[in-house]
Amino acid sequence: MYIDDLETPALLIDLDIMERNLRRAADYARGHGLRLRPHTKTHKIPLLARKQLELGAAGLTVAKVGEAEVMQAATPPELLVAYPVVGRSKAERLAAVARNTPVTVALDSLFAARQLSEATSRARVQFGVLVEVDAGYGRVGVPPGEVRELAAAIRGLPGIDFHGIAFFPGHILEMGEPALRALCDLRGVITAVLSDLKRAGIPVRIVSGGSSPTLFHSHLVPEMNEIRPGTYIFNDRNTLDCAACGLEDCAASVLTTVVSASRAGRIIVDGGSKTFSSDGPVGRAEVSFGHVVEAPEAVFFRMNEEHGYIDVAAAERSFEVGERLRIIPNHICPAVNLHAQLYGIHGRRVEQVWAVEGRGRIQ
Ligand SMILES: Cc1ncc(COP(=O)(O)O)c(C=O)c1O
Repeated sequence: MYIDDLETPALLIDLDIMERNLRRAADYARGHGLRLRPHTKTHKIPLLARKQLELGAAGLTVAKVGEAEVMQAATPPELLVAYPVVGRSKAERLAAVARNTPVTVALDSLFAARQLSEATSRARVQFGVLVEVDAGYGRVGVPPGEVRELAAAIRGLPGIDFHGIAFFPGHILEMGEPALRALCDLRGVITAVLSDLKRAGIPVRIVSGGSSPTLFHSHLVPEMNEIRPGTYIFNDRNTLDCAACGLEDCAASVLTTVVSASRAGRIIVDGGSKTFSSDGPVGRAEVSFGHVVEAPEAVFFRMNEEHGYIDVAAAERSFEVGERLRIIPNHICPAVNLHAQLYGIHGRRVEQVWAVEGRGRIQ
């Protein structure tokens, strides 16, 4: 099958680029003695997770219990749920996963820790626990000064083992001088937390961080011994805007068809928010929903569910109805979640069709 045979919109993955992205990160992690626990929320496909493991990943990361259930098919040596699992039935489902695969959960409350502890005793399993610290992103995570207290309380609960700390440097985006300074500040936060835990006699095995924008700068925080990048497998327009990858490293693009060219200077393609997700560019005021590969000067300025509006006034050529355009989404993770399958391509040939098995597993 060839790309021309596909119906659109279709999410294409360039297999050579993906392979290079995977190997580069695996080599970097190995070279710096870092455990790589890739976040599989980006691709949601057990076969791709298996590939990450074969290239040396120590385990897999997921966000949701449903994703953990799906990723068991990749037979990982261990799974990290990098999201607070709150709710009795979720804790029980995760305990069922832990019967086959060691599970660690990152959390920031005693409430969540107690629920996990209760679920383990009934299922006769153990969970590892990482205390999530807010290292500057301002999302989940206890303030650095409160990690010791939560870690000590967790150590007093049966069925769960304190393994260390986790953080997500989502506030460090555009790679350059400010990002390097932010990484230096981040290091200060992490070393303070670790000293605090040491003073309290609490051993720490895992210091888990890492994102795709900061991936190849992880060694600047040497206290961190594990990284969890997700987006790096495909990259996207946000990673590109962060200068954390080049256009040649973007493996994913949505193949669309021009369905209307009825107005001068503007075309409509057959992909809108149900194809790309509504995520805008991170850290930029401009309104734009993707990078048009065949016309970089075009601006994808608006979406309805099934319509993508592209301003082509600045393009040097005209566009015809029926023409196909590839668009790199701003944020690939929610875009993948909208597609039933991904198409792995070599040149114009479609070589793989993967079902997105973790799609919609948000519970
Ligand atoms: C907790 C956590 N860890 C790791 C990642 C992976 O980061 P990235 O998407 O930059 O690769 C994310 C992404 O949202 C995350 O939320």
